[in-house]
Amino acid sequence: MTELTSVGQSTVEPEPDGLTEKALLSARTYSDPEFLELEKRYIFGRTWQFVEFCHNLANPGDVRPVEVNGQPIILLRDSNGELKAFHNVCSHRGSQLVCEPAQNRKTLVCPYHAWIYDLDGKLFRARHFAGVDQSQIPTTPEEEISLKPVKVAAWLDFIFVNLDDQAVPFAQVIEPLEQRWADYDFRDITYSTSLRYDFQANWKLIVENFLESYHVPFIHQTLNTYSPFVERYQISISDEMRGIGQGTYQPQYNDGIELPRWPIRSGATAKAEYFNIFPSFFVGVMPDHFFAWSLEIQSPTRTVEHLHFYFCGEEAAHDPRYEGCRKTTLNNWKQVNDEDWDIIQRMQSGMRSSSFERALMSHKMERNINGFQQRVLGAVGHDHTYGSEGDR
Ligand code: FES
Ligand SMILES: [Fe+2]
Repeated sequence: MTELTSVGQSTVEPEPDGLTEKALLSARTYSDPEFLELEKRYIFGRTWQFVEFCHNLANPGDVRPVEVNGQPIILLRDSNGELKAFHNVCSHRGSQLVCEPAQNRKTLVCPYHAWIYDLDGKLFRARHFAGVDQSQIPTTPEEEISLKPVKVAAWLDFIFVNLDDQAVPFAQVIEPLEQRWADYDFRDITYSTSLRYDFQANWKLIVENFLESYHVPFIHQTLNTYSPFVERYQISISDEMRGIGQGTYQPQYNDGIELPRWPIRSGATAKAEYFNIFPSFFVGVMPDHFFAWSLEIQSPTRTVEHLHFYFCGEEAAHDPRYEGCRKTTLNNWKQVNDEDWDIIQRMQSGMRSSSFERALMSHKMERNINGFQQRVLGAVGHDHTYGSEGDR
């Protein structure tokens, strides 16, 4: 066992030419089920995961079941409009409590023996528990009979949960990005539509592809015309957030009208920037739209990506007047993502070769990837259960 322990503690050493660096993650970590189990335990089980949109839980009494890292979770808005999350399991015998989205709920009733919980997760009725027609709340401590709370946070239109009780607050994680985008007013951010991609590839390849622009002039020749590679730069604003910025972003619309732009503080310049929020959520702001992408990990070599698009205000997001602009925006992203879809799967395919042990990366052009891999290994690298490179 040399790979993970050594790497968890060290930074990467550039090769003698000062330009090349060997990837911290070996090719094996992109297909190994054992490594994915470690990632689930130490990364997905301990970081903030995007799970739902605020616009789907807009009103008191709205309830939604979601799954986080293989665990059933309930999201709800209580009668005061406060967002809450609980493990979606009845304290009695473990039935999943909620299976379908619901509205106007004042309680959660377990379908099995009808235990009734209030929207604070407190059990308030257990019919017949003390015998026929004798309702009684069990006398076990309240924390055992109540629903078990889960940490939850909302930011813009996005709801995140964290399965780790010890997790740092989401506000702390997102603060560097809020500061970076403080010039923007996202009050009118409005959901428009989504795309879905099914990758035969490991989730990390999708993140890594997002984090570098080295491939742009070769893979994305159209994108390179309106968002040129030479004006792109890598950004790292925290250990959880790395991304790409670009000096110019000039989409061309054919029908003579333009989408409304985000209001920005006077004197500020509208940016086009994208960030990965570790591990598997991505956000990007362009002068006239916003995206949020998320990954669903299906297996070590299969990942579903959801791309959600937002515009500034209800009209921009839905009015037929802007349909042409929205279509152009969507088609541009679709083209970029089709191109990435193809090459990312080709990476997965090539990495099956026994001759490829790990990537050789540019210390300059792929610096972000090194930061991401350090973050992955910092999380799982202390686990000595993972086999050595000799096991390949
Ligand atoms: S399992 Fe929920 S009431 Fe019995
Ligand atoms: Fe790309």
